[in-house]
Amino acid sequence: MEKEIMKGIVLAGGRATRLRPLTLITSKQLLPVYDKPMIFYPIETLIKAGITDILIIIAPDYSGHFLNLLGTGEEFGAHFSYVVQKEPNGLAQAFILGQEFIGTDSVTLILGDNIFEQDFSPEIKNFKDGAMIFAKQVHDPQRFGVVEFDQKMKAISIEEKPISPKSNFAVVGLYSYDNSVISLAKSLKPSARGEYEITDLNNIYLKQGKLKVNTFDSLWEDAGTFDSLLRVSNYMAKKSVK
Ligand code: G1P
Repeated sequence: MEKEIMKGIVLAGGRATRLRPLTLITSKQLLPVYDKPMIFYPIETLIKAGITDILIIIAPDYSGHFLNLLGTGEEFGAHFSYVVQKEPNGLAQAFILGQEFIGTDSVTLILGDNIFEQDFSPEIKNFKDGAMIFAKQVHDPQRFGVVEFDQKMKAISIEEKPISPKSNFAVVGLYSYDNSVISLAKSLKPSARGEYEITDLNNIYLKQGKLKVNTFDSLWEDAGTFDSLLRVSNYMAKKSVK
């Protein structure tokens, strides 16, 4: 049997209503983060981790802008494919939209507004099966998926945007799955907010004892609000001062 390869998906759909009026003229993931479009960062995170076959999921509005900007991926030393997500029905839909692209391989999903500095290649290259997610301590966990750990730092629950978070470990927008993610994504029911939740998917792997949660402490921003967008732009600007 041929070895499964790790494919990549960048999810850059959604309407980004929180960033209006900026997102009335372009897509959130095309907005600048200091000196380059936001989507360059998640693409570079995948490429740095050795993933070069990448599907980019985009909303219908401004889809041509993504193609103009990113093209075939050749300039990144990668290969890009595209699929349009008509309605933003949740993160787990990425695996249904990406079914043909994933084929019989494993897949790493990164959210198009999530910005990291870390090189995740050691973890991603060691990924074998099940699911692997990453968590970081934050001050505002109720904005995110939240992991609860036992005393041995074994994950025991994940809750999506809990009002009373059981820890301050937020699940970040970088997720690796084996090929069973496609059929598991199809088995999900929409949540109370009407979305196919990635947290529900992660909880299935957790119950099966197949979820690995890695904690980390380097830069992470979900650049989907004015404040986080400004913060991460300033961070990148300062970093570039020699
Ligand atoms: C999504 C996930 C959430 C995760 C976050 C990371 O939230 O549902 O679990 O912590 O991404 O950015 P959303 O951006 O859809 O609010």
